[in-house]
Amino acid sequence: MPQHFDLILKNGTCVLPWGEARADIGLLAGKIAAIGDLRLASATQSIDCAHLHVLPGMIDAHVHLRDPGDASVETLESGTRAALLGGIATVFDMPNTTPSITSSEQLEWKRGYAQGRSWCDIGFYVGGAKSNLDDLARLEVEPNVCAVKIFAGSSTGDLLVEDDASLERAMRSGRRPIAYHSEDEYRLQARKPAYEAGGPHRLHAEWRDVECALIGTKRLVGLARKTGRPAHILHVSTAEELEFLGQCRDIASVEVLLNHLTQTDEAYDRLGGYAVMNPPIRDARHMAAAWAAMANGTIDVVGSDHAPHSRAAKERPWPATAAGLTGVQTILPLMLDHVSAGRLSLTRLVDVMGAGPARVYGAVGKGRLALGYDGDVTLVDMKAQRRIEESWIASPCGWTPFAGHLCHGWPVATIVRGHVAMRDDTLLGSPQGGLVTFR
Ligand code: DOR
Repeated sequence: MPQHFDLILKNGTCVLPWGEARADIGLLAGKIAAIGDLRLASATQSIDCAHLHVLPGMIDAHVHLRDPGDASVETLESGTRAALLGGIATVFDMPNTTPSITSSEQLEWKRGYAQGRSWCDIGFYVGGAKSNLDDLARLEVEPNVCAVKIFAGSSTGDLLVEDDASLERAMRSGRRPIAYHSEDEYRLQARKPAYEAGGPHRLHAEWRDVECALIGTKRLVGLARKTGRPAHILHVSTAEELEFLGQCRDIASVEVLLNHLTQTDEAYDRLGGYAVMNPPIRDARHMAAAWAAMANGTIDVVGSDHAPHSRAAKERPWPATAAGLTGVQTILPLMLDHVSAGRLSLTRLVDVMGAGPARVYGAVGKGRLALGYDGDVTLVDMKAQRRIEESWIASPCGWTPFAGHLCHGWPVATIVRGHVAMRDDTLLGSPQGGLVTFR
């Protein structure tokens, strides 16, 4: 008997977990209900995808939506709006807000706050702090928590767990992978005085150097092995760490950022404070290593580390420059541009921005085009050419380090649990994002 669907995506080139195939996709009651030849089926709505690639709804597993915080920079509403416009169907939001999210009460508040405000689906990190180390086992299994996040090196905000004894205590409290900012705090602090006099922004990368990242990662992986607690190392930025982590697949997973795949330290001269982030962008050797790690499978996840700051904070002279870049809206266009340039395949892109984050964080129903999965789909036009412009950026801070970049390939629709939430740069309906469930 011919079936009826809410939405049929007709005749697109679908990036399925087992490779690309031309197929129709039928969505019903927010789920993927059929993949195949649906010419005989009917639908309330259909989209002709003959010239498009059909990807699972893309996930950005690393965003700082700053809510609660400074609404003139970003809010949960504006950040998730930016996500949809950039083809992102799901975000995982970091806990270093003002105040930081470290308790059950705050998580409960955030769950309620996100309803009716989030445009895309959302999961929440809970911050590990010295004050809640023994509570982490309980906090990490609260609804919609993607992971505990621990800043083992200091960055924006007040979260910090730097010593081995506290880190070990955190690792012994719970079972799910912990996501780490892994720069070594001791080396970072020891080197700071030598860099406090100011100077060009590239001093940022000299201060927070390769050793700082490598020592941090080796310490964390050592403790992870000792305790048997999986470690997800965020924003791996050095060739040395990638080589090391390639030998640690038993206990560690790897995130690399779009920025470290796209920018080298020449950006300090071009962008000044707008290139400053933690860990820093580095020289071409490290970018080449990141692409090698893309090719050999070391990378599990690519995220944006979307971390908006006001223009005033970015324009403060170094070392007072705020660290962090906007990115949730531009990560997919730039990754599509990398695909067009032949640096990775669409299948690998879907691996690192779909299946990979879903696997590492245990997100239920996300990251794959497969029967019974959430009806999350990102439609992309690989023939489109479009320049990234600051006027397009939805985050109130209003800037991107990629202004002027011509992208070959562009997201044209974001579908979230069967609802076409963004099409051709227009948001449809109201914020209907839901909360992600994790294993
Ligand atoms: O550059 C960064 N900015 N790195 C981080 O780890 C934090 C982020 C922020 O929240 O500003």
